[in-house]
Amino acid sequence: MATKVIPGLEGVAAAETRLSYVDGLAGELFIGGHPLMELAPNATFEEAAFLLWHDRLPNGEELAALKSRFQGGQELPRTTKHVLEAAAKRKAPVIDALRMACATLSLGDPNPDDITPAGQLRRAERICAAFPVIVASYVRLREGQDVVPPRDDYGHAANFMYMLSGEEPHADFVRAMDTYLVTAMDHGMNASTFTGRVIVSTESDLYSAITGAIGALKGPAHGGAPGPALDMVFEIGTADRADANIRERLERGERLMGFGHRVYKVRDPRADVLSQAAERLYEQAGDRTLYDLARSVEETALRLLEEYKPGRNLQTNLEYYTALVLHGVGMSAELFTPTFAVGRVGGWSAHCLEQLSHNRLIRPSSVYTGPKDRRWVPLEQR
Ligand code: ACO
Repeated sequence: MATKVIPGLEGVAAAETRLSYVDGLAGELFIGGHPLMELAPNATFEEAAFLLWHDRLPNGEELAALKSRFQGGQELPRTTKHVLEAAAKRKAPVIDALRMACATLSLGDPNPDDITPAGQLRRAERICAAFPVIVASYVRLREGQDVVPPRDDYGHAANFMYMLSGEEPHADFVRAMDTYLVTAMDHGMNASTFTGRVIVSTESDLYSAITGAIGALKGPAHGGAPGPALDMVFEIGTADRADANIRERLERGERLMGFGHRVYKVRDPRADVLSQAAERLYEQAGDRTLYDLARSVEETALRLLEEYKPGRNLQTNLEYYTALVLHGVGMSAELFTPTFAVGRVGGWSAHCLEQLSHNRLIRPSSVYTGPKDRRWVPLEQR
């Protein structure tokens, strides 16, 4: 029987998972069994990661123990620091530096190939703990600034912001950051998660899997969209210019960043969570101008997407409001995708553990379309 190719594996279920439930037609997302709308504004990164790893929320003692293990993971191996210094000299993009540094984290691990569940869990914690340290240290090194070490009295999100700026982060900014990290943490069988699961399915190690996942996240069809989405809002500048600007883009055949999704055919529920977080943030800062402009650009974009691409149900995805939240807490556009990775690594690691808990090598097939009648021609006759 002829094998049928499903381009992009669209609609193919590659695994069972208890980690997140995505309903693209109802616009629903549950993370670890909790509706995102309830989890994201309340949970910290540490609580949500624990939820994915252990299938329940931690109690106070467990959370304190996890935070203290995170402190252990914040110390980067010497070679990782050297890699960051070398990348900083070449002014490499932050997401590339994160990918390179992640691959070297195994050097701080006495037994990187240990794939027992307990070993993998500790490794997952160490990798999650290291990510904000890598990103923040790298950004400062590249700017010629001293690296700011994390503080023991700060949580994961607060430390990330503190290590980036060297200043005590405002509590509202920390809450917005945790909300973002939890919102971004897991989303079914997305491309980067699938990449990680494929890698561990060969019984390879977690460092390799997470490094591969970063590579998959980087592209604009996945985690690279928020920077260009914000650029578009800035370029438009005032609401009255939105229609002409967006029309021009669509006439040129450009894709509007922050819109459309492989799974969601209604509004991405993560866009709602982050839009609310962004509104709170800009309201508290006493200047809603950018938020109001983004809302009105969004309205115009949705109207024009329906006009130019009727029936495709192109809706706002999480990346549009990611840009607004992260800009609101003071991050530059280049940090948007690396910050996505700081959140998503909780989900990547949980998926790798889940894959290994009942592993079967992921090995799809392909349909050959090439010739079979070629014959060897010696080099001197070619
Ligand atoms: N702007 C304009 N047109 C679009 C957009 C968009 N953002 N997205 C899809 N379309 C069009 C396509 O050109 C296609 O048109 P056609 O039928 O005339 O050929 C139609 O809508 C269907 O698009 P597909 O390519 O089949 O959609 P797919 O599921 O492959 O793409 C994707 C999903 C990659 C996210 C796409 O919507 C896109 O490129 N969006 C912009 C980038 C973006 O926001 N990425 C972040 C995604 S969220 C995340 O990964 C965390």
